[in-house]
Amino acid sequence: MHAAPDLAQLELPDRMDRLWPVAEACLRRVYGSRPDCEFWLQGIARVVKALGEARPRELALRDQSRPEWWRTGSVVGYSAYVDRFAGDLRGLRSRLPYLKELGVRYLHLLPLLKSREGDNDGGFAVSDFGSVEPRLGTNADLQDLARAAHEMDLSLVLDLVCNHTADDHAWAKAARSGDEEYRDYYIVLPDQGVVADYEKRLIDVFPDVAPGNFTYSKEMGGWVWTTFYPFQWDLNYANPAVFCEMTAAMLRLANMGVDGLRLDSAPFIWKRRGTACRNLPEAHWLLATWRALLTIAAPGVVLKAEAIERLEDVKSYFGETVTEPECHLAYNNGAMTALWASLALGRAEPMRRLVDAASRKPAWGTWVNYVRCHDDIIWSALSPCLSPEDQARCSSFFAGQVSGSFAAGSAFQSVAGAAASTNGMAAALVGIGDDDPGSDAARRLALLYAVSFALDGIPIIWMGDEIALGDAAANQDAGAAGSDGRWLQRPRMDWRRADLRGDGGALPGHVFQQFALYARIRAAEAAFDAQHVARTTKADHVAVLCFVRGEGASSIQCAANFSNARCSTRLTLDGGSWLDLLSQDAGRAREVELGPYQVRWLVSRP
Ligand code: GLC
Repeated sequence: MHAAPDLAQLELPDRMDRLWPVAEACLRRVYGSRPDCEFWLQGIARVVKALGEARPRELALRDQSRPEWWRTGSVVGYSAYVDRFAGDLRGLRSRLPYLKELGVRYLHLLPLLKSREGDNDGGFAVSDFGSVEPRLGTNADLQDLARAAHEMDLSLVLDLVCNHTADDHAWAKAARSGDEEYRDYYIVLPDQGVVADYEKRLIDVFPDVAPGNFTYSKEMGGWVWTTFYPFQWDLNYANPAVFCEMTAAMLRLANMGVDGLRLDSAPFIWKRRGTACRNLPEAHWLLATWRALLTIAAPGVVLKAEAIERLEDVKSYFGETVTEPECHLAYNNGAMTALWASLALGRAEPMRRLVDAASRKPAWGTWVNYVRCHDDIIWSALSPCLSPEDQARCSSFFAGQVSGSFAAGSAFQSVAGAAASTNGMAAALVGIGDDDPGSDAARRLALLYAVSFALDGIPIIWMGDEIALGDAAANQDAGAAGSDGRWLQRPRMDWRRADLRGDGGALPGHVFQQFALYARIRAAEAAFDAQHVARTTKADHVAVLCFVRGEGASSIQCAANFSNARCSTRLTLDGGSWLDLLSQDAGRAREVELGPYQVRWLVSRP
């Protein structure tokens, strides 16, 4: 298997022999018709060889010592903006013990490379892929952080914003000044008719705050492709020079000690007229090439697809065949959205369908599960599993526009005919008002995370959820927020609140201790390793979701009640009695009772 753990045990030349043919075949599919194809194949091979040889020895040893580390049940993730969490990289380093206490072993930091002045979409407009944003520290600080993280058995994951650069990146500046070579790094359409033709099939990502997919630039003499904000210029991957540069950027980050790269907006990297310019075959071939090249140069480093698409499309980012895999990891965006839908509707059905669908993924791919992140919850990603009416209901429910709703979220991006997406921290969306650890709202937060932690793959905690942190206050960094409502879920960490984590009688401590317990149980039970895919089982109540991980005596059944009513469901485990690993309740019956919003992780006992 291409993804076999023993590849890290091979020497660089052997890895090159094994995997270069895979990369070459993919590259020929993409660039084969170009007269300069051979030139670029050689150029890319040289980059990979040089950066493979430059890989520091301690990182090469790390590659060898941790085969398939990302598939281990003990890997629990945390995601944060460096500045919001800890000010800068040095501050962050001093907070690693906090993460360790929570049970975190995978740290995803949102973009921290040098980004454009002024609005930069939270760092997603990168001006230099080779250096850390000065506000956050230096490259040496990043390497120190990686080293400190590694010493604590923590893997460090960064964004590689691969679809675009900032409009002040050196390539963009050169392009604007008339340099033809760099102009070809971007996609510029001089003809407005052609722009209009493309737009017919394209979807606006930010219809309210940045409508359209092109931005007119006088200096560029046409419309520059800008899928996201006008200052984020899409890269032209039809030009192999771009692919070569981004490969080098990726491998340099790997050699700084980064253990994983989140490929931001991966579906968008290839465009073809007359299509929606998402999820195209060429994008997949380029990702399969990156996977092969990364495995050659830095075999312990993983790729994570950020593809917020329908589940069937997301699955394709693991690669179609085991000999041509793409990303090791992909966000289980469907399950995340369905979790919230089940909560709003009080029905387990949406989540059950998504767990079933997610289970039919390629065996070599691993999910990343999550409850909240820095972005909005996009309901249309649940089509066709959830009707448009239910999508609209969820959207209104979380915006607090439905009578009986407990949620205090906020609607984002209204497009005619589609449900607006949802912004807000989990605490706001589950309706945490006071700090009562015994409230239904606190139970709802625990429910979402207990289910997410029980699914196969890496669960990721969004910064602050472990202390039930609320939305960013309106006065927090007003400048950064602008009109983009996603800043609601990007508050500053409240360390005074976090100081209460030892007190289980206070809400922050109660939640922190629950999450830490989930992490401890995951680490102790083999059924939580990623190869044990979640299989839904029959539940006896419309609000109850049941699924099983693992086989036989070591299997675990997760039972979750998405309603505020007490109910019971059958137990599918063998054995005479059961034990709930979360509450330590035990029983003999073939049925278990679930309190309002309760989740149980059940094992059988003889
Ligand atoms: C991804 C990020 C999002 C960003 C966009 C453009 O979707 O998660 O925050 O705005 O890419 O880079």
